[in-house]
Amino acid sequence: MEIVEGFSKLSREEKIRFIQDNLPMVADVKEITNHYRHETDQSVFDDFSENTLSNFYLPYGVAPNFLIDGKMHVLPMVIEESSVVAAASRAASFWAKHGGFKTTVHDTLKVGHLWFEWSGDATILHNQSPALQAYLKASVKEITKSMEERGGGIVNIQFIQQPQLHNVWQMQVSIRTADSMGANFINTCLEAMKEALMSYFEGLNLPEVEIIMAILSNNTPDCLVTCEVSCKVEQLTPYSAELLPQEFAQRFKLAMDIAYHNTYRAVTHNKGIYNGVDAVVLATGNDFRAVEAAGHAYASRDGQYRSLSTCNITNDGYFKLSLTLPLALGTVGGLTRLHPLAALSMEILRSPSAEELMSIAASAGLANNFSAVASLVTTGIQKGHMKLHLSNILTSFNATLEERERTEAYFSDKTVSLQKVREFLKR
Ligand code: MEV
Repeated sequence: MEIVEGFSKLSREEKIRFIQDNLPMVADVKEITNHYRHETDQSVFDDFSENTLSNFYLPYGVAPNFLIDGKMHVLPMVIEESSVVAAASRAASFWAKHGGFKTTVHDTLKVGHLWFEWSGDATILHNQSPALQAYLKASVKEITKSMEERGGGIVNIQFIQQPQLHNVWQMQVSIRTADSMGANFINTCLEAMKEALMSYFEGLNLPEVEIIMAILSNNTPDCLVTCEVSCKVEQLTPYSAELLPQEFAQRFKLAMDIAYHNTYRAVTHNKGIYNGVDAVVLATGNDFRAVEAAGHAYASRDGQYRSLSTCNITNDGYFKLSLTLPLALGTVGGLTRLHPLAALSMEILRSPSAEELMSIAASAGLANNFSAVASLVTTGIQKGHMKLHLSNILTSFNATLEERERTEAYFSDKTVSLQKVREFLKR
């Protein structure tokens, strides 16, 4: 296939024809992409991105019974993995009976950087820092005015030299962005400060500043939330399967400690946390790539990638589970209100503030983490997965209600595979 120029300028029909004609397609691209378009509101989705042909569906589900900081929530979750919503719901019901999820938002500070080259004397820059900071803040006051009215704004500006790179500096701007995730706001402020930074140096006859780039950082270790649950060890019976709750708690803690020390396990362990976190992040129209990137950087903050959650069994017999992670989320701006289902999620969550949404997403993460590790140290995860896997297979075979019931009963104590289900249905 040749390089195609000006693809974005083609009409949707022409783009579809291009794919159909230039790729060895068996599928009817037009028919399939048409089928999944929205009858009345397609223009809303088309506008989110470029070259949109259709919509990619993912299940939009809800997990009830999330008691978070004394308030009951139903959590909207968007996820394709069959067991996640069920596991979150079960864990939520369990923890609601034991005080629920208790959260602390430590801070919501974010940073952005204006990177520049400058050959002057570092002490001059440090001495100028307070006056320069005031000058830079004043240069963007039209942009920051409404954010300040909402409780956010620029908190601090620092000049830091990048030691490995000759004459490379960062102007680090710390910002609070109220209920918005703030990526656009931060980038707008940073870009608007380029001129001011250059003119300030020029005015003092200092060596010229060469701007490299201006961009927020998705590393948000100071936009941090902790979520905790605890119960008496003997109350863990619903999760301990064949084990005594005391044995279960010990084994659970050992699994958590393995995830702390071993990076292979930590990555999978944290993936289980993000099953819940991302599902809420997606359902509320937030940026899951930013959330993931920040979380994995935070998990590596001491130089080794570790688990984000910890477990503790106290001398007085309490089982405690805690998760701390950065979550840069918004409840206004971006897609949070533009996407009709994200707007619905906000209503289901009773219009949370960004801090409340941090608590909610962290609770979903801890719920899924608890469920996953509990399964791993008892029955294994395949049992639960297979039940849902069977349901998906039966759907793909268009099984009737009676066929479903009989197949589910037959496979209740057997390993599920596509082939075996097909044979059983044939019989
Ligand atoms: C699967 O999506 C998630 C788990 O692998 C998480 C874990 O291992 O803790 C079950």
